[in-house]
Order: sequence, then C-alpha cells, then structure tokens
Amino acid sequence: MTDEPLLRVSALSKFYGSRVGCENVSFDLWPGEVLAVVGESGSGKTTLLNCLSTRLLPSSGTASYRMRDGQWRELYRMSEAERRFLMRTDWGFVHQNPADGLRMTVSAGANVGERLMAVGDRHYGRIRATAVDWLSRVEIDEDRIDDEPRAFSGGMRQRLQIARNLVTGPRLVFMDEPTGGLDVSVQARLLDLLRGLVTDLGLAAIVVTHDLAVARLLSQRMMVMKDGHVVESGLTDRVLDDPRAPYTQLLVSSILQV
Ligand SMILES: Nc1ncnc2c1ncn2[C@@H]1O[C@H](COP(=O)(O)OP(=O)(O)OP(=O)(O)O)[C@@H](O)[C@H]1O
Ligand SMILES: [Mg+2]
Repeated sequence: MTDEPLLRVSALSKFYGSRVGCENVSFDLWPGEVLAVVGESGSGKTTLLNCLSTRLLPSSGTASYRMRDGQWRELYRMSEAERRFLMRTDWGFVHQNPADGLRMTVSAGANVGERLMAVGDRHYGRIRATAVDWLSRVEIDEDRIDDEPRAFSGGMRQRLQIARNLVTGPRLVFMDEPTGGLDVSVQARLLDLLRGLVTDLGLAAIVVTHDLAVARLLSQRMMVMKDGHVVESGLTDRVLDDPRAPYTQLLVSSILQV
C-alpha cells in the first residue's frame, strides 16, 4: 500500500468558447479507488473525463499523475508521445460505444494482442495465449477469437473492449457510461464482471455515469456534477443515503433520473 494518491486534480476548467464544459474541479484519486462522476446530461461529465485522460486539453488547472517509478508528472506538460504511451500502457479508456474503442475489422484476438504488442511483446504464441486468457476472463468463448467484433453482440463488444484495455495491466481506467448502450440484463452482467475485475486487479477507475445504480455498485466515492460544477462529493454510500446538496437530493429521489 502507498500513502500517496495516484492522481491529483486541481482547479480544472474547460470552456468551449463562453460555454462552461466543467469548472474548478479538484480531487485526489487513490490507488485502487473507483470514483463515479454522476450528473444529468450536459453537466460536464464527459468533458471532465476527456480532460483527465488528456484527450482534451483543459482551459486552466492542473492534473498530476504518479508514474510507476513514483515520479509525479504534470499531465498537460507531457509531450504527445509520452501521453500516448501512458494511454497505451498504464491507462485504459472504455468508451460507451465499443466501436470507438475497438478495431472493428480485425479479429477479437488481434484487438487484445495489439495492446500487448504496443508495450513491446513480440512473441506470437505468448500474445495469443494471453489473448485467450483475457477473452475467457470476459466470458468470450475461445472459438470466437478469430471473429471480428462487428460479428459480436453489443454486450460481447463491450466485454472485448474491456479485455483490450485491461490486458496491459493498467493502473487507471477511465470509463464513459460503460454500460450505457446495453439492455438491462446485459448491463447487470457486465457490471458484475467489471466489479470483479476492478477488485481482482486493484484498479483505480473514474467512471462516468448518469445511472446512480452503477455508481452504487462500482464506486467507493462519487462526485455529483451540475452545469459543469461539482455540487457534492463524498463516499458513495453517504452521498446516496444522505445527500446534502439540494440537487443531489433531487437526483437521488429520482425526480431527475432519466
Ligand atoms: N465540443 C464541444 N463544443 C462546444 N460545447 C461542448 C462541446 N462538448 C461539450 N460541450 C458542452 O459542454 C457542456 C458539458 O457537456 P458534456 O458532454 O461534458 O456533458 P455530459 O455530462 O457528458 O453529458 P451526457 O450525459 O449527455 O453525455 C454542455 O453544455 C455541452 O453542450
Ligand atoms: Mg457524456
């Protein structure tokens, strides 16, 4: 265990012209901790996640990440190449739409193997064995390994996207509505699977969702956003059972839930 956070975010803001994407967001994320970011449509969840994962550059503020060697790095001062390396190795990004996170016209096995090759593994037999192992961990039959994801169901695609992201042993995974496009029974199974993997691997994750049940199931801590601002944050059970901000009270009483 370590007594230092993994990620430190301070006064992060992103404006699109005069429109607020997110404003003045600060928090620390600890190793192995899952943070849920909840709020209604347009509240700035995706903007925040994209800034944190450096897919988008903020207008102001800082975010520092503790690398594997213990060194703190300021994310927005890193070179493009360094950021890309982090994205391929130490981080994962699970998109709501699996097509955004997969290569749809190469095999399932290659989708997983590609990330391993990106971190320098060149041994075909070992890559394939690891791919098989990861497919089974996300409950995809080995005999589907040569199929392209476009031949998969939505739930299978999402599980494949998860395998592709986790195969390199990331320490931090960003997820934007990971169960968003799926029907309810598939969602429940995927959430179970995700929860198991996150726990087994001791992953830290930032999960964007508008679904409070997802936050309850996956996260230890949550942040509630409205109009680009964090209106409440705290331990997930506390926020959901004893919401303090009027907006969170409305959200929890389901008046605003969609
Ligand atoms: N590329 C963009 N250009 C201009 N404004 C944008 C852009 N992306 C987002 N916004 C605005 O920033 C605000 C926050 O949007 P964001 O997509 O972060 O919300 P969200 O909480 O992820 O919503 P949803 O739940 O619908 O995905 C909104 O007012 C949105 O219109
Ligand atoms: Mg969004």
